[in-house]
Amino acid sequence: MKSEILKLLREAEGYLSGQELCERFGVTRTAVWKAIKQLQNEGYEVEAVPNKGYSLKGQTDIFSKNELESRIQTKWAGRNLYFYDCIDSTNHQAKLLAEDGACHGSLITAVTQTAGRGRKGRSWESPPDKNIYFSLLLRPDFIPNCAPMLTLVMAHSVQKALALMEFTTQIKWPNDIVMNGKKITGILTEMSLQGEDIQYVVIGVGINVKKQPFDDELKRKATTIEDETGKEIPRAVLVQKIMEQFEKDYDLFQKTKDLSLFLEEYNDSLVNRNKEVLVLDLAGEYQGFALGINNKGELLVQLKDHTIKNVYAGEVSVRGIYGYV
Ligand code: BTN
Repeated sequence: MKSEILKLLREAEGYLSGQELCERFGVTRTAVWKAIKQLQNEGYEVEAVPNKGYSLKGQTDIFSKNELESRIQTKWAGRNLYFYDCIDSTNHQAKLLAEDGACHGSLITAVTQTAGRGRKGRSWESPPDKNIYFSLLLRPDFIPNCAPMLTLVMAHSVQKALALMEFTTQIKWPNDIVMNGKKITGILTEMSLQGEDIQYVVIGVGINVKKQPFDDELKRKATTIEDETGKEIPRAVLVQKIMEQFEKDYDLFQKTKDLSLFLEEYNDSLVNRNKEVLVLDLAGEYQGFALGINNKGELLVQLKDHTIKNVYAGEVSVRGIYGYV
């Protein structure tokens, strides 16, 4: 009931009468008042005016199960929510929940992670109350070869959700979102197979939101939305927008099972496009000119002899020849 009341308060123009809420939920005035009191204790500024009712003031950055549930109104993406104050890694937890039968579209999110994981076995700094950490569990019915493309679909969704909030960002192939040339988002996609089929896919997303101390190495390549824009955004609003966008993007992806419908938008926002890049793969490193991605999500890199190499994401890293981008 609390998240429903929150949703109604947010949507209401003016005051919502106590009587209206009682009738809506079939509960007593005391029960409504108790729920309002709880919301106030959670940090919501709910004004109670005799003979008028209740009204929600201001927009605060409250990141809680209630707040997310009251916002996410998609068909399936994020509708089944697992919320943790503290967890080792939302990706790891998502896998445990998947093994236990959690459904397609389950969203696993946490205020802080004690063992946040990045690509290539790196760790992911996950201090409390500063950032967004979530994993989305998918149970696709397509072949395993398609799964890595979901990372690019998610990168597109995050970039677009940020654009809807009027933040300009770019994508660093395959899965980083950058603001003014520095990383604000990383994505880690993991897959489990059952025989030759996908059992599930977990897409983990970490977004740096508020100012926070970074060590010297991180400072060179990472930043936060607040550092770059001076704005403190409500984390739940961004998660809501990403779920809405991803749901649309996933449906588009399902139509072709490739990135053809995303190609133009993805390439337009690609920070590496038309730039000299350094490709670091297991066999060594080489330089080339990045042309953009193809509909399988491979980066097309033109080498000195003009041949074009299709770079497959996997464990490869691509960076600018002078630094991160
Ligand atoms: C990268 O190396 O760029 C990928 C970072 C992915 C971090 C996110 S935070 C939420 C989810 N849980 C994890 O342990 N990792 C991902």
